[in-house]
Formats: sequence, C-alpha cells, structure tokens
Amino acid sequence: MKKIKIGLLGFGNIGTGTYRILEMNHRKIAETTGCELEITRILVNDPSKKREISVPSGKFTKDPDTILNDPEIDIVVEVLGGIEPAASYMLKAMKNGKSVVTANKAAVAANFAELKSVAAANNVLFRFEASVAGGIPVLNALSTALSGNEFEEISGIVNGTTNYILTQMTENGSAYEDVLKDAQAKGFAEADPTADVEGIDAANKLSILMALAFGKYVAPSDIPTTGISKITKADIDAAKERGCKIKLLASAKKNGNDVEYSVKPVELPLSHPLAGVSNEFNAVFVTGNAVGELMFYGRGAGSLPTGSAVMGDIIEIAKAVAAK
Ligand code: HSE
Repeated sequence: MKKIKIGLLGFGNIGTGTYRILEMNHRKIAETTGCELEITRILVNDPSKKREISVPSGKFTKDPDTILNDPEIDIVVEVLGGIEPAASYMLKAMKNGKSVVTANKAAVAANFAELKSVAAANNVLFRFEASVAGGIPVLNALSTALSGNEFEEISGIVNGTTNYILTQMTENGSAYEDVLKDAQAKGFAEADPTADVEGIDAANKLSILMALAFGKYVAPSDIPTTGISKITKADIDAAKERGCKIKLLASAKKNGNDVEYSVKPVELPLSHPLAGVSNEFNAVFVTGNAVGELMFYGRGAGSLPTGSAVMGDIIEIAKAVAAK
C-alpha cells in the first residue's frame, strides 16, 4: 500500500483532533484512500510538554524546516492559527511541492489570492474546509455539488464561541465573563478570544465564503463588523420580551451586481431556523438560483469536529496523490 506522509504544523486543539481521528479511523481511511497515511512530524513549541495524547516523542520538532523541507512529506497540515508565520509556512510548503491543508481562517482570508495562485503555480492542492464553520462541509458543497448555481445569499452563525456565550447568557442567565472562560476551556475560542467576541473571526469566515460563492474577495477588515462584547443581560432580556434571541450573524446578499455584507448581532424571532442553533453549533444558509434555500448545520468549533474537516481534506489530497 502506498504511504503518504503528513507533517503537522501545530498540535493544539485541531492538531490533536486530527491526530486522534487518524488513529481512531485508520482502517476506514486506508480503505477510502488506498493509502497508508502517517503523521510523521509535528511542529510544536515545546516537545517535552506533557500532553493528554500519547505520541512518540521522535515525531515532535521545533524546527518548521524539518517539515517544510522534508522531501518525504507529501501533505503539510497547518493548524497553528494566526496570520504569520502560518501563511509563510504554507507558501513555502507549496513551493516545495507539498499540498497544504489548513483550518486557519485568518491566514486564508488575509492571503486568499496568493495561497490559491501559489498552489496552482506549483501544481499542488490547497484545501481549507475546516477554516469555515468547523465540521460543516459548506466550502466543499459550494465548490462542488452547488457549483451550478448563481448564489443570492450566504448567511449564518459561523462562530461557535459567541454562539455558546449568547446561548448560555440567554438560557441560563450566565455571566458573559464566566461563559467566555468556559468556551476557552472547551477549546472553542481562539488563543486570543478578542477575534471571537469582536466578530473578527466571523468576518474572516465571511470573507472566505464570499470569495467562493460570489467570486468576490473582500478583505475581512473591509467587512462592517460588530461583535458581542457589548451585549448585556438587559439586551438579552429585552430581546426575550419581544419573542427574539440575539445571534451574531454573518451575512452576504446579492443586490443587483453588488453584494451587501456585514457581521453583527441581530434579534431573530424564535420561529427563525437560526434562533434554534445553540451553543457551539453553527449554521449556514445558502440561497442559490437553482437549488433555492439550503441550510447547513453542525458543530462549528471543537477538536474532533474541526479535525473531521481537516481529515476530509487530507483524504481528498491523498486520493489525488495516490492517483498520480
Ligand atoms: N474560535 C472559533 C469559533 C473556532 O469559536 O468558531 C472555529 O473556527
């Protein structure tokens, strides 16, 4: 059986989730790809750190070049988070002939055109399903099964942390700071949760969704963005009085030849399908001119759900490498 070697850049929540999935579903993945997949090297800051997962210590490295320059590694998986050095590492991996998978919405949204064009120029694959809405395969759906549509609208709840916070504040009367800590402990929040609570993470994801759905790139910093850090218990109670729930909505709608877009908290009536999306779950509404309305729903954050999307991309690349 052909061997495919994978280098992981980062071993936080998503990296360990991806590692676990490969262990858990090894046989199924080998059957699907016709290949033996192995994570041979993992970039970490501290190889001697105690971890909840057992990994042969020889796999750990502190030097990114031992992955990026290793001729035996076919696929580089970037799960470091943050724009740099993640984007530079991805570009270097591609220039060295490696296909790249990432879950990093900030790096993808900031460098969308360059990452795509360097991948194409070097004849390697670049996949980033896990960067939007965690385990929900919405990017795959937009670019394959739904690609016969002109899209009219893409909107939804695309940040698990803020949805978790708003849900707990609404349903249990929890205090904002307490629930944020809880979301961090559960591995939903970014290392610096400012990106979550100020809507920046959702803007990164909306930028990627718009680029795929409308072929229109808008830098995340150009998306009008309001987060949830100023939402108070009084706002939530007032919304309740009106029969509504507050949700952080990322939205892009066609208006003639233009697209209108924003990230902001909105009051949704309880009857609205997005009002029932709770905790770390995400949902993305898509309206296409042929398919009509669709809604994708699932876990938008967390180690295994996001690892599931990373592994799906690895498998697609492994199939292509095996077919060469
Ligand atoms: N911090 C992100 C969220 C992780 O809460 O949705 C998944 O992208």
